[in-house]
Amino acid sequence: MTLRPLVAGNWKMHGLKASAGELQKIIAGAQKLANVDVMVCPPATLLADFAAVARGSRVAIGGQNCHSLPAGAFTGDIAAEMLKDSGAQAVIVGHSERRHYHGETDEAVRAKALAARRAGLLAIVCVGETRAERDAGDARAVVGAQLSGSLPEGAADFVVAYEPVWAIGSGVTPTAQDVADMHGFIRERLRSRYGEAGERIRILYGGSVKPANAKELMAIDNVDGALVGGASLKADEFLPIAAVYG
Ligand code: 13P
Repeated sequence: MTLRPLVAGNWKMHGLKASAGELQKIIAGAQKLANVDVMVCPPATLLADFAAVARGSRVAIGGQNCHSLPAGAFTGDIAAEMLKDSGAQAVIVGHSERRHYHGETDEAVRAKALAARRAGLLAIVCVGETRAERDAGDARAVVGAQLSGSLPEGAADFVVAYEPVWAIGSGVTPTAQDVADMHGFIRERLRSRYGEAGERIRILYGGSVKPANAKELMAIDNVDGALVGGASLKADEFLPIAAVYG
């Protein structure tokens, strides 16, 4: 099944108000890309500004993390409802940097994905194995466990992003065969858990996606778009990635 692809940029902890100019370039370029959903996920400090700039354009704005509860005494945290209120349409949950640097468990990620649903945001749920786990032959087992624990039950209304930890920011990507194998495995799991609706869940690939490798990666079966880090910070690099879908 061919799904409408999504190319999302995760700006991580990059960007100041002056970066709105880059967003404007992305918006201008995305106007010509009718066959792909384009999204930018800036730091929370820029969400409201970016959402205002992007309003009415082809570019959606997303957050990078949320708390599972709608409000409360959680200093420094941001509720999914607050992201929504600031103009976000989506939120990344369970990114490996959150899992590793902030100790987020599968259970916590699942709660965040459910919070996104509650707030009316599209959850982009991230999974992926480390280099050591892959080398030990455990990549499928690790990703399978993350899917079981992190995905929200019920509706198949979210996006999955497969991001092998060792491919993030490293300039190294898995082989096309390894990506095909893992995305096929994820699709199987989605089908068995969500039935036919599992066919329509988009599975993004993330980890060192660049203009030079995007075409090959995006052509792989069950790769329905990309979650882009470093290359999403510059319109000149991000737009050619989205443009592989014309
Ligand atoms: P890079 O594209 O910089 O490897 O980052 C990928 C990523 O972590 C996106 O969420």
